[in-house]
Amino acid sequence: MKKDDRAIYSAKSFDHLEGLTGISDAQLAEHLDLYAGYVKQVNTLMQELSEMRGERRASGKDFGLAEGTRRLAFEYDGMVLHEFYFSNLKPGGEARPSDRQGLGRALAETFGSVEQWQENFQAMGSMRGVGWVILFQDPVTDRLTNYWVSLHQDGIPARCKPLLVMDVWEHAFMRDYKATERVKYVDAFLRNIDWSVVEQRTREDSAARSAA
Ligand SMILES: [Fe+2]
Repeated sequence: MKKDDRAIYSAKSFDHLEGLTGISDAQLAEHLDLYAGYVKQVNTLMQELSEMRGERRASGKDFGLAEGTRRLAFEYDGMVLHEFYFSNLKPGGEARPSDRQGLGRALAETFGSVEQWQENFQAMGSMRGVGWVILFQDPVTDRLTNYWVSLHQDGIPARCKPLLVMDVWEHAFMRDYKATERVKYVDAFLRNIDWSVVEQRTREDSAARSAA
């Protein structure tokens, strides 16, 4: 079957992020290149799986189908989580919102105080292994919970909206810090949070739109 070169997704621009505190422009550029690779892989995989269906080769015993299908979740979530991550950063950001209104008040109600939420989020950032620390909101109960997501796709709570997304893979910081200095990177991440974006995500019906 003839290959269709139409791309379903395209990499978004995050040029406005230059000048972050504690995360260099070179680190950011390398990370954005890696994100663009996920976008490319999603497009390629979706095309290949589509061709497989077209050729009626799709069988549960087909290694290509099995590997491609499992990899799609890894590549797709890798693409989307990076978009959430870059979107919730800005030069001149802040570590935490005011605890008197909106999301800050909701965090204080759940965690005892905004400081306690931040302590928990920071502590999770130093957990062993690569993955993500994500503040999720359950849209049914509005409950806020910090989750650990392994790789990109393992541990995402079904139904919940990602509000604040922190990448803790080594590639996110190893140009600026040593592998043993993840805590320094987590501190830097916290100094660059765009809380207006995080707040906006709590108000949207679909969290996906806030990453656009
Ligand atoms: Fe990353």
